[in-house]
Amino acid sequence: MKLVFVTNNPHKIKELQSILGNSFNILSLKDINCFEEIPENSDTLEGNASEKSLYVYNKYKINCFADDTGLEIEALNGKPGVYSARYAGEDKNSVANMQKVLNEMKGINNRKAFFRTVISLIIKGKETQFEGIVHGKIIKIPRGKSGFGYDPIFQPEGFSTTFAEMDLSVKNKISHRGKAVNKLVQFLINNEL
Ligand code: IMP
Repeated sequence: MKLVFVTNNPHKIKELQSILGNSFNILSLKDINCFEEIPENSDTLEGNASEKSLYVYNKYKINCFADDTGLEIEALNGKPGVYSARYAGEDKNSVANMQKVLNEMKGINNRKAFFRTVISLIIKGKETQFEGIVHGKIIKIPRGKSGFGYDPIFQPEGFSTTFAEMDLSVKNKISHRGKAVNKLVQFLINNEL
């Protein structure tokens, strides 16, 4: 089955293809010649995921899904949350985003945080949403080189490594996006899509 993943992030396409295997043909926005900026104006993950998938479905009439993810830090009252990508500025710089978080958490002992992903799937115009959460903590000094975004400062519960120190296959098993995608796959299987 062909499904467009509404993202320009090659890391996410790679993660997804490795979770989904050969049963699905995941197309990127580039593959369908979509080069415009996809609107993302909501102040919730649910709203942004919907806005992105509906935009592509309505314009290209192709089954698709979009995800939106936020890192919620307890001691920062849920920040950066839905603004995770642009936390330190419009240029979406991961290093600057991490540094801003680490600066704001100086001297704070409560390091609890979680990633939450919402996926909006549109099949033949009908929307279904899926959620995935992974709990963990924000460490003080970044560690690891794999992954992307906040991976070097996020250590999931039950592990002594950060996401950026893990094999992608391990991260996918426990991550927010991995969990949401597994629900998406179960849905596609259960509905014989
Ligand atoms: P998005 O809206 O899903 O693209 O994600 C929003 C922000 O969260 C981006 O800045 C990403 O860097 C960050 N993010 C999303 N997923 C992950 C992840 O798996 N690890 C680390 N950071 C992530």
